[in-house]
Amino acid sequence: MAPVVLKFGGTSVASLERWQTIAAQMRRCVDAGEQPVTVCSAVAGVSDLLVAMADAAPRGDHEPLLAQVVARHQALADDLEVDRSVLDDELEQLRRLVTGAALLNEVSAPVRARILARGELLSTRLGAAWLRRQGLDVTWVDARDLLTSEGGEASASRRFLGAHVAPGADPVVRAAIGDGPVLTQGFIARDPQGRTVLLGRGGSDTSAALLASRIEALRCEIWTDVPGLFTADPRQISSARLLRRLGYAEAQEIATTGAKVLHPRAIAPLRHGQVPLEVKCTHAPQLVGTTIAAAGPDEAQVKAISSRKGIVLVSMETLGMWQEVGFLARAFAVFSEHGLSVDTVSTSETSVTVTLDPSANALRDDELQAVVDALRPLCSPRLITGCASVSLVGRGIRTILHRLAPVLELFEEHRVHMVSQAASDLNLTVVVDEDQAPRLTEKLHALLFAHREADDVLGPTWEQLFAPAPSRPSSPSTGRRPAVHEPWWMRRRDELLALAATSPAYVYDEPTVRARARSLTSLSAVDSVLYAMKANSAPRMLEVVGDEGLGFETVSPGELARVRAVCPASPVLFTPNFAHRREYADARALDGVQVTLDNLHPLEAWPDVFAGQELFVRLDPGKGRGHHAKVRTAGARSKFGVDTAQLRQLVRAADAIDARIVGLHAHAGSGVLDPTSWQETALFLAQIAADLPHVHTLDLGGGLGVPARPGGERLDLDQLDACLARVREAHPRYALQLEPGRFVVAEAGVLLCRVTQLKQKGTLRYVGVDAGMHTLLRPALYGARHHVVNLSRLGEPPGPPVTVVGPVCESGDVLARDRRLPPPREGDVLLIATAGAYGASMSSDYNLRGRPAEHWLT
Ligand code: LLP
Repeated sequence: MAPVVLKFGGTSVASLERWQTIAAQMRRCVDAGEQPVTVCSAVAGVSDLLVAMADAAPRGDHEPLLAQVVARHQALADDLEVDRSVLDDELEQLRRLVTGAALLNEVSAPVRARILARGELLSTRLGAAWLRRQGLDVTWVDARDLLTSEGGEASASRRFLGAHVAPGADPVVRAAIGDGPVLTQGFIARDPQGRTVLLGRGGSDTSAALLASRIEALRCEIWTDVPGLFTADPRQISSARLLRRLGYAEAQEIATTGAKVLHPRAIAPLRHGQVPLEVKCTHAPQLVGTTIAAAGPDEAQVKAISSRKGIVLVSMETLGMWQEVGFLARAFAVFSEHGLSVDTVSTSETSVTVTLDPSANALRDDELQAVVDALRPLCSPRLITGCASVSLVGRGIRTILHRLAPVLELFEEHRVHMVSQAASDLNLTVVVDEDQAPRLTEKLHALLFAHREADDVLGPTWEQLFAPAPSRPSSPSTGRRPAVHEPWWMRRRDELLALAATSPAYVYDEPTVRARARSLTSLSAVDSVLYAMKANSAPRMLEVVGDEGLGFETVSPGELARVRAVCPASPVLFTPNFAHRREYADARALDGVQVTLDNLHPLEAWPDVFAGQELFVRLDPGKGRGHHAKVRTAGARSKFGVDTAQLRQLVRAADAIDARIVGLHAHAGSGVLDPTSWQETALFLAQIAADLPHVHTLDLGGGLGVPARPGGERLDLDQLDACLARVREAHPRYALQLEPGRFVVAEAGVLLCRVTQLKQKGTLRYVGVDAGMHTLLRPALYGARHHVVNLSRLGEPPGPPVTVVGPVCESGDVLARDRRLPPPREGDVLLIATAGAYGASMSSDYNLRGRPAEHWLT
């Protein structure tokens, strides 16, 4: 029977339920005529307890820890209904080892190895007894009889605690495992003298891989708590995509640059023996997972983004390198002497920058300082701490650099300390400040993966795999109270289905608009809130928003006219951009309209229009924010705002015509979820206002973001309030004003459309609907992602991924890609969520298809 190695990690051996998965997987192999050779880790948390116990033993205070180890295993034995006595021998050994260490007041490396080895020995003793009771005829094999270390490592600690075992087939080991099901341990081996050694942290993966290469296994399966490798860390990015297939080198690179799913050392032995590796999920065994094998002929592409925090950069400036032999050798010798492993390197004639790998180095401040001191005779060294690396990983990165152009645009906003392109052509790494890394990773991921179709490399997203299917909403008559996070449109499904008769149609929920408006007017640190009506200028919307006590921010004569007609008494700010002289002159004639200037030209060229006026001035805060490059409105490449360098000139021009600057304004961008953004803007404006005696108001712009999907991350309004309260405390002189659009209306609106046609072309399934880019432009223009549901079939199981497209004659007419909906049929109603902002207001009559209807629910 061909052997297959199955490896289960700590959480995968920690409960009865998980052991049932192990039994099922071993049986699957047996049924397929294969021999399961199962490698297990210690029960989750036990290795940490054993480390703590080894540390405590010389002080004699190991007893409570020992008691915990005993209790943990006894409890599991009870759950598995296995006699506790199967643990006796290993627990007795453990007791003797720690008592001995306590008596000697020290734990030598060999003793530490034997203490730590107990975790795997205990878990497999329990497991073997349970598996036998399930009728599986397993043989418990001591892994130390299967793997022998090379024993040549320099220090005792490396020899015993981080030993190296060479890969390669070994017929003796193959014979030792017999041909029935086997259960053995990860992490442990023997040295050539027969003493227990450990393979280092993450050693169980390495054990499984080594064993697979020793016995020439058909494949190696690593069972863990995620179903494979993803395009990014799914805990950070829920739209991370499952990678279905990877080459060994790519997998190694992904494992090395950040993902914690697989230990990087596990890949080499498998590659050596050309054993395919499958990564599978213990609590969702039905999922396909990731297969890692010899690379196929797929084209060069970015496969993942991984990020590592805690990176330290050492930059070495020198003229000494100019045509000089041996500088690099001398500099690297310093790192080597200090036991520091260098990760990435970038060099020029006059400087070399390296990063130090946090997982391979302890990186204590005093040690880093010692390296800097030691480098000083060679160059001018500089230490940059608090960095993170963000790596794009995939084969042939060099050949696709041109396709990364939009990605590189993102770096405009981030301070990049270093760029390095690996000689292996497998990764492109940038090093940025640590606090920038999560946002950068998120945006890079959206740019690179959000629109990619599923294929045999890129699988479904994490949320598609694990999001609970939405439950069918009960009819209003059952009176069930909805869960707090349940979006309003789930509750009002029947009304929406009726309104879909006029599809495509936007439908707005008045209570949601009012609730969002109130959440802003109740912020205690904010004096006034203006609604940026460009987000949705439906007259009824203005009425509701005005009724909630918000003023309005307007940008055109059309908006001014409408708001004046609907809410004649509300305060209005007029903030046009590159507008005609006439627009300012007309606005001046209206009561209650405050004009904002965002350029010098109007003041210098048309002084008569502004003479004696009170003005707001829009400044460029320098750093843009927002969900897409097109909505970031700051920085040298944005057309908005006055450059602070020109402020003096503007003030002189205003003084000359007796115009007074009473307000300062800045808007960094749109779709921001970081509450500190407005605090930053406020502090920037307050600093400038200090020289302008008449300023009484700081307008911090809009841009307040909304969750990308129901239940997604929200802007924390309490935190925003707290941030602005600090500004008020420091600058009590100014009134603070916000001008959000999206936040007030986005979640209150949905777009309803009907399925017109279905089509399958190649592997892609298209669902045609009667809305398109003319109805909702955001997906086509910004790649915006809107949550889509099949309202006609809410709660039914999802089918294969589909692409939702409209009827417009452009390839960009795609509303959503790669969505798993209950399979749509002609006539079904699809609901596109969070469409209340910039939906109807950006719709057009393109292709003469008419504009969408708009309806209200009260
Ligand atoms: N204030 C100023 C000066 C603005 O330029 C904007 C939006 C806002 C306030 C309101 O931003 P909000 O709170 O809605 O994010 N069509 C794009 C958004 C464009 C935003 C333009 N300016 C989208 O659909 O995402």
